[in-house]
Amino acid sequence: MTRLNAVRGPILHFIANPSQCAEDVESSYQYFSDGMLVLDKGRIAACGEAGSLLAKYQLEGIELEIESYPDKLIMPGFIDTHTHYPQTDVIGSYGAQLLDWLQTYTFPMELRFADAALANEVANFFCDELLRNGTTSAMVFATVHPTSVDAIFEAANARNMRLMAGKVMMDRHAPAELCDTAETSYEQSRELILKWHDKDRLSYAITPRFAPTSTEQQLEAAGKLFAEFEGVYLQSHVAENLDEVAWVKELFPWSRSYLGVYDHYGLLGERAIYAHCIYLDQQDHQRMAETGTAMSFCPTSNLFLGSGLFDMNAAQAAGIRVGMATDVGGGTSFSMLQTLNEAYKVLQLNGQSLSPFQAFYQATLGSAESLRMDDKVGNFEVGKEADFIVIDLAATPLIKRRMEHANNLKEQLFALMMLGDDRNIEAAYVMGECRYHR
Ligand code: GUN
Ligand code: ZN
Repeated sequence: MTRLNAVRGPILHFIANPSQCAEDVESSYQYFSDGMLVLDKGRIAACGEAGSLLAKYQLEGIELEIESYPDKLIMPGFIDTHTHYPQTDVIGSYGAQLLDWLQTYTFPMELRFADAALANEVANFFCDELLRNGTTSAMVFATVHPTSVDAIFEAANARNMRLMAGKVMMDRHAPAELCDTAETSYEQSRELILKWHDKDRLSYAITPRFAPTSTEQQLEAAGKLFAEFEGVYLQSHVAENLDEVAWVKELFPWSRSYLGVYDHYGLLGERAIYAHCIYLDQQDHQRMAETGTAMSFCPTSNLFLGSGLFDMNAAQAAGIRVGMATDVGGGTSFSMLQTLNEAYKVLQLNGQSLSPFQAFYQATLGSAESLRMDDKVGNFEVGKEADFIVIDLAATPLIKRRMEHANNLKEQLFALMMLGDDRNIEAAYVMGECRYHR
């Protein structure tokens, strides 16, 4: 007799962008108050009402081994579209905005990643911390050292996580030991692509840090790699901070805008994703939309570093895909729930809003779409990889109490994103296997 594993409990997942279902938000998600996810070889075999699925599998003579999570909430794992594992140990460092923060805290820490043993230790901690926060996939910066890339890919692969990462390309305006050259960055990135890209659930991301730390030759080399390797990603930062924007104007006086620098070197495209995107104009937005370039919204980082307020409405109006991101260690939390909390507040300050449905869509399917991996993860469509989490809606006395006054799913989700954090994550499953249990 065939046996399959299943999990049973309240289930929520998104099938569309709520902002594109204006009349009928309910058509953007499926919610089963007594739902069941049936798993087959790490993939979703079925998702629906437990009662009807139980009857169906019984009729087919398939036995189900069921784990039950009544009173919890089962959702797709969160996807963090921009984060830096080498900055784990500088998270929450006092008193600076972007450019000073990089010099004072970030570069000194990243220098230490020349030590492969340190890189391995931090990479393992980082992946455990992702899972402990319910994040099952991430797009990650390593450092300039190729061994730092090996470390994060090895740690992710040991947990069978879907993860993208890349070696930082940086050949100026940083400590000499943290700089490569246009040639070595090209060669080392190329070797890492051949070694890691498409291995199991891993993908490579070409990673020029940001325009100010790359010469024109290096940006050209990044563009060459991006054109040469189909399916490989490109990640960078753009228009995060006003001093940074002014510096880019000095360094690249010929460019109409900061984004224009990347555009000039062929660094926009379907698999390119840029963090922050705060100080962009309409022409930049149009260019991102035309090229299929995605954005990462990093609210805890943007508030912590005093960078500015992301314009979600403008991004949506332009038709740009937006993923959620922690941007650890400029960001102050590994928790996607905390990230949604601060995203809501950033948008409030910008005269905008973030409905709870929009928020949880952004953290799951929306982030998967921004990374062009929504054919693999992001929701519970049959055949997708079974990365999911179990959320405890009564994890603290306050949250438990608050939930008793939530009258419907929307109110529950909003209270969860405003009050929740790692304490709410009961379990995280990767390809159908429990990789974290509280
Ligand atoms: N811009 C260039 N490098 C970084 C970084 O490490 N963090 C953030 N937040 N912005 C950057
Ligand atoms: Zn970043």
